[in-house]
Amino acid sequence: MIPKHVAIIMDGNGRWAKDKGLPREYGHQNGVNSVKSIVEEAYKSGIQYLTLYAFSIENWDRPSDEINILMSLLVSTLRDEFDEIFDKGIKLNAIGEIKSLPKELVSELDFIINKTRKNTKMTLTLALSYGGKQEIFNAIKIISNKVKNNLIELNNFDDSIINSHLYTKNLPDVDLLIRTSGEQRISNFLLWQIAYSELYFTDVYWPDFSKDDFNKAIENYKTRERRFGKTSEQI
Ligand code: FPP
Repeated sequence: MIPKHVAIIMDGNGRWAKDKGLPREYGHQNGVNSVKSIVEEAYKSGIQYLTLYAFSIENWDRPSDEINILMSLLVSTLRDEFDEIFDKGIKLNAIGEIKSLPKELVSELDFIINKTRKNTKMTLTLALSYGGKQEIFNAIKIISNKVKNNLIELNNFDDSIINSHLYTKNLPDVDLLIRTSGEQRISNFLLWQIAYSELYFTDVYWPDFSKDDFNKAIENYKTRERRFGKTSEQI
């Protein structure tokens, strides 16, 4: 079975550029081409939810020039790709501390999210200024307040209460998490939502990550036995 929800840590833009003796921004620019081709391939394959880690909350610590380049790339890509996203029936979604992003990016996101809200073919989620711990912390804060004000009873407390207070409240848990560039870590991405995800790591840098590489990850996923704690015989 193909995964319903694929999440990707798009890593290696900087190293890709460095290997070629180019400034890091070239890595990010070429990374945008991979984003376009992987969105298209995921859409064609019938993946219902694709979530891309485009900017982590920790990325704010990068040099301001690089941050500005990334933000401009996000704005221009969203602008250039709006028609395509809309025509394909893709619904755009964003998770993270969206308010902390530049105004221009926030309004571009608002515009597309609103225009595509009724689309049902695929949900494309961009994680921007996103941190998994911050997301959980934020949910705990809201829930604690509701408990204090008797809006939630501690006796009724379960998974679904946490789920419904996360940025990802409208998304199913992640089935397959892919990370490019050879690093094998989670980097504060979707901590709650990957509790039972299949993990796939590849050495390919994100700007080189092709449709074939993506399909290889999907094929690999299909060979996994997902037991969710049960025995093989129970599946
Ligand atoms: C990681 O590579 C990549 C990022 C921090 C940014 C990802 C952004 C894009 C691919 C472009 C815009 C995205 C969209 C959705 C249009 P790195 O810079 O950490 O690489 P390194 O680890 O080799 O230094």
